[in-house]
Amino acid sequence: MTAKPIPVIAIDGPSASGKGTVAQIVAEKLGYHYLDSGALYRIVALAAFDEGIDWQEENDIAELVAQLKIEFEHGEVYLNNQNVSERIRTEIMGQGASQVAAHPLVRSALVNLQHSFRKAPGLVADGRDMASVIFPDAKIKIFLTASAEVRAERRYKQLLSKGQEADYQKILKDLQDRDARDMQRIVSPLIPTADANLLETSQLNVEQAVDIVLTTISAKNG
Ligand code: DC
Repeated sequence: MTAKPIPVIAIDGPSASGKGTVAQIVAEKLGYHYLDSGALYRIVALAAFDEGIDWQEENDIAELVAQLKIEFEHGEVYLNNQNVSERIRTEIMGQGASQVAAHPLVRSALVNLQHSFRKAPGLVADGRDMASVIFPDAKIKIFLTASAEVRAERRYKQLLSKGQEADYQKILKDLQDRDARDMQRIVSPLIPTADANLLETSQLNVEQAVDIVLTTISAKNG
């Protein structure tokens, strides 16, 4: 008898769609592990920045990835033993992440690390290509989205609530640029797979989105 594969719930979608928040809550409720794959690309962008490597330098960045020590612990992110949780969350590192993520060599250098998160009893993985490339055998595939305006509004309020400066029009423009780059790149573009469940969250709050995901999972299990 072959062992049952460890279940994966893949949650993909564009920037600021709320998929990270939803994925984390779903992982907690199921007692599953959680992979924030966007954080990996953000860490790579930050590491390249700190080393003075341009985000367009595919070979240099791919070599750098092989040397990075990346750890996640209690919701915090560590790069070479330094807590970089705050530094990777800035808008500029989001833009950098989107640029380094367009390089095939950088993406392939991160595949094994992403697979290593698949541990019993299960994994909730959030990103852009969780369902299409990294975990194509995921048990449940959710493509979570919201209009660019709603996502910009959410990001705007989030920044204000943290006491940071925020310019709605700039946030909207940055999101649209990032969407275009993530959707139009040659490797692993952001697109829903044919077998994905589409979840449009423009009119939903976090609890409602989590409930729909959990219902989708139990329907599949039942
Ligand atoms: O989810 P996020 O905003 O933290 O992701 C940052 C960038 O990383 C995003 O613009 C595209 C890239 N990314 C990717 O290409 N593939 C993933 N699986 C996750 C993120």
